[in-house]
Amino acid sequence: MGFFKFIAFSRLCVALLLLAELVSSVGGIGVNWGTQATHPLPPATVVRMLQDNGIQKVKFFDANSSILSALSKSGLQVMVGIPNDMLSSLASNVEAAEDWVAKNLSSHISANGVDIRYVAVGNEPFLSTYNGSYLNTTLPALQNVQAAVVKAGLSTQVKVTIPLNADVLGSSTNLPSDGDFRPDIRSLMLEIVKFLSDNGAPFTINFYPFISLYKDPNFPIDFAFFDNSSSTLNDKGTVYTNVFDASHDMLVWALQKNGFGNMSIIVGEVGWPTDGDKNANAKNAQRFNQGFMTRYSAGKGTPMRPGQLDAYLFSLIDEDGKSIQPGNFERHWGLFYYDGQPKYELHLGSTNSNGLVAARDVKYLPKKWCVMSQSASLQDSQVAPSVGYACAHADCTSLGYGTSCGNLDAQGNISYAFNSYYQQNNQLDSACQFPNLSVISGSDPSVGDCKFIIMIQTQSLSLVGNAGSRIRGIVPAVLVSSLLYMILWMS
Ligand SMILES: *[C@@H]1O[C@H](CO)[C@@H](O)[C@H](O)[C@H]1NC(C)=O
Ligand SMILES: *[C@@H]1O[C@H](CO)[C@@H](O)[C@H](O)[C@H]1NC(C)=O
Ligand SMILES: *[C@@H]1O[C@H](CO)[C@@H](O)[C@H](O)[C@H]1NC(C)=O
Ligand SMILES: *[C@@H]1O[C@H](CO)[C@@H](O)[C@H](O)[C@H]1NC(C)=O
Ligand SMILES: *[C@@H]1O[C@H](CO)[C@@H](O)[C@H](O)[C@H]1NC(C)=O
Ligand SMILES: *[C@@H]1O[C@H](CO)[C@@H](O)[C@H](O)[C@H]1NC(C)=O
Ligand SMILES: *[C@@H]1O[C@H](CO)[C@@H](O)[C@H](O)[C@H]1NC(C)=O
Ligand SMILES: *[C@@H]1O[C@H](CO)[C@@H](O)[C@H](O)[C@H]1NC(C)=O
Repeated sequence: MGFFKFIAFSRLCVALLLLAELVSSVGGIGVNWGTQATHPLPPATVVRMLQDNGIQKVKFFDANSSILSALSKSGLQVMVGIPNDMLSSLASNVEAAEDWVAKNLSSHISANGVDIRYVAVGNEPFLSTYNGSYLNTTLPALQNVQAAVVKAGLSTQVKVTIPLNADVLGSSTNLPSDGDFRPDIRSLMLEIVKFLSDNGAPFTINFYPFISLYKDPNFPIDFAFFDNSSSTLNDKGTVYTNVFDASHDMLVWALQKNGFGNMSIIVGEVGWPTDGDKNANAKNAQRFNQGFMTRYSAGKGTPMRPGQLDAYLFSLIDEDGKSIQPGNFERHWGLFYYDGQPKYELHLGSTNSNGLVAARDVKYLPKKWCVMSQSASLQDSQVAPSVGYACAHADCTSLGYGTSCGNLDAQGNISYAFNSYYQQNNQLDSACQFPNLSVISGSDPSVGDCKFIIMIQTQSLSLVGNAGSRIRGIVPAVLVSSLLYMILWMS
């Protein structure tokens, strides 16, 4: 081609690249990658799964170095986190913050080529259930981390923010336009917002329509979703058809009336769980997440912010080690099960037109289950303490009214508890020795949606199948099951 045509062609290419860059940096969806699982998938497997699904951003609650290493040159944008229990030490002196930045931020960016864009200081530190424990330390920690990021020369690339729960907001009338920050923390919130604004950092907020429904049986269920306009909220002429938009815009109003109307907002967590409660199932989760994603991919925001949102779905993979203090649903927020299998069809945008793609090359333990033996009696006095022990140490959150295994009979319930304990203990023989009650079976007891799982192999236990080999990591499980015997024998 001629020289001028070549120049024009190159310009077109550059323009297209810039456009692609713009679309990907604005339009990409993020996910929260939590790590409180007893058997996490290998980080490289998860990174591959993120890429296979066209997910472009990932948010963490800490800065685990082996996971960050797996993200090296992955093309994924990263938000690392600082847990609440580190806030007081980071608040007390700037050196602690500099140490944190050197170890957990600078090294990953420079040596490992990880594209870290944000540091999240704390996680929902002003949640009312924390009784004000972090009120004095959150802002000073934010200030020290920001100063450390500036000193490390990273302040252009890395923004420092605080993920807050939507309960930092309040409205006397429930209307978004009457929204402001909760009275007890309003002046602190204004200091934080000013500091974020001065540093060009976004406001990060988490929204949970599922929890609105969970806490209030009278909550109009269709208002939790994006596809049914039968229940609405009329805010002085602006009609809201779902609680996400209304809560989001309550924040926009609160920022605006305090002089920060153009501050950028990140939705740090949004999602729906699939088990552990009568409203937590794949059908509702698909309805909510697909409703959210369809609007998100189309660049459609809320009435007060009609443009492209910036959001991280909660969450990527189920975490069977999470506290169930908030409710049994807490271990079931994943788009994927513990083993990286998708739970339902979900279209995240143009990149995964066939729905979610499973993790590749996942290694499972053998097809063996621990169940209640045919000869055992439901009247056996050991049943209750055995089930109690198994459920306390493993995961029985799929048992109970309206859950995936809620229709099992008594024998099925007991088997479910035994199997959960057995799988979490890597199918050790000693973890299926509930006195005269349990037996190892080769046939899958799963029925319908109720899955009796086979655990995945973790890296440190990848030799579990080799009979006779002594493996580090098994010893604690053996101790736990000896303890089980003592407890059951004594009771
Ligand atoms: C970091 O992640 C790896 C891989 O998931 C896990 O094995 C390890 O325990 C984690 N480390 C910490 C300190 O949480
Ligand atoms: C980050 O750095 C601090 C040192 O300030 C260290 O104690 C901590 O374990 C590091 N890792 C994580 C995941 O926060
Ligand atoms: C908050 O206070 C309640 C009631 O006083 C108490 O039960 C709970 O353990 C406290 N939580 C924390 C995180 O301190
Ligand atoms: C925070 O500071 C106030 C005022 O100095 C003090 O009364 C309060 O006990 C502190 N709260 C915590 C959790 O340390
Ligand atoms: C919307 O919700 C209302 C009230 O729950 C219900 O009667 C109606 O059938 C729903 N419409 C659609 C299209 O789902
Ligand atoms: C927000 O508004 C302020 C003052 O009006 C301005 O200085 C700032 O550049 C604006 N920021 C954005 C992101 O538009
Ligand atoms: C099974 O266990 C669940 C949860 O503990 C309980 O609610 C249910 O009543 C049990 N079902 C039977 C038949 O025992
Ligand atoms: C198991 O059953 C046998 C025979 O029925 C009985 O002698 C033994 O005490 C039982 N063991 C336990 C731990 O209940």
